[in-house]
Amino acid sequence: MGILDGKRILVAGVTMDSSIGFAVAKVAQEQGATVLISNFGRALGITKRIAKRLPVEPPVLELDVTDEEHLARLPELVTEHVDGLDGVVHSIAYGNPETLLGGKFLDGPWNDVAQAVQVSAYSLKSLAMAAKPLMGSGSSVVGMTFDATVAWPAYDWMGVAKASLESTSRYLARDLGADGIRCNLVSAGPLRTLAAKAIPGFGDLEEMWGTRAPLGWDNTDQDPTARAVCALLSDFFPATTGEIVHVDGGFHAMGA
Ligand SMILES: NC(=O)c1ccc[n+]([C@@H]2O[C@H](COP(=O)([O-])OP(=O)(O)OC[C@H]3O[C@@H](n4cnc5c(N)ncnc54)[C@H](O)[C@@H]3O)[C@@H](O)[C@H]2O)c1
Repeated sequence: MGILDGKRILVAGVTMDSSIGFAVAKVAQEQGATVLISNFGRALGITKRIAKRLPVEPPVLELDVTDEEHLARLPELVTEHVDGLDGVVHSIAYGNPETLLGGKFLDGPWNDVAQAVQVSAYSLKSLAMAAKPLMGSGSSVVGMTFDATVAWPAYDWMGVAKASLESTSRYLARDLGADGIRCNLVSAGPLRTLAAKAIPGFGDLEEMWGTRAPLGWDNTDQDPTARAVCALLSDFFPATTGEIVHVDGGFHAMGA
């Protein structure tokens, strides 16, 4: 018996086997879910190869969360494989590392900031609404954040995009609650993924975690984060929405 037995789950944002989305897809399958994964653009080819490394090779859908046509055809693509969705995972972010990250905050140009907010925050709403016709009461939407209540070294405009994501999640929780659909985020500590390695100065964040997280922190282990996402997808958080669950070794609760 798994906690996701019988659940149909779409995980959007899987590129490598280091992707948090990959770990979520793996744990979800181990917990009994039928999983679909998605990605966009040139990375889609990599996703199709990486999908074979999951316990069960899942269907790989093309979905650029900024493309209205892709969003509109999502229900059609999904129903080729399953007749509805019980869970949707948003594991997607992008900010131009050349202009927005690594100490460039004061010079970040609006066009790049707008792209970061669209891909990393607005798209949670886009994805949830695209999937809504497939979801019934008891369904769960889960996204990924990096604690946006404070300013970090290097994270710069991605921090602003994450603050927007956190607020978007609360408004989605408000507006989807009447349909019995929950929306929550997992706030993970630094993990060595493709997206993280692209952040100039990411090492500074990793070092802070090494000394301050009371439980310690393994930045190569996506499993604790994936398990929390799966718990939020399951029926074990039936009355929780608009919440942010920290999976950071306890870092967020320490003053120094
Ligand atoms: N790695 C960390 O330290 C860390 C910590 C906290 C939160 N997060 C968040 O976790 C999520 C997953 O990131 P990751 O670290 O696994 O990196 P990743 O690079 O493996 O995953 C990011 C995914 O977003 C996809 N993506 C980008 N633009 C897209 C678009 N327009 N349409 C569809 N997909 C798009 C990429 O193709 C990729 O699959 C992100 O929201 C990230 O900010 C990461």
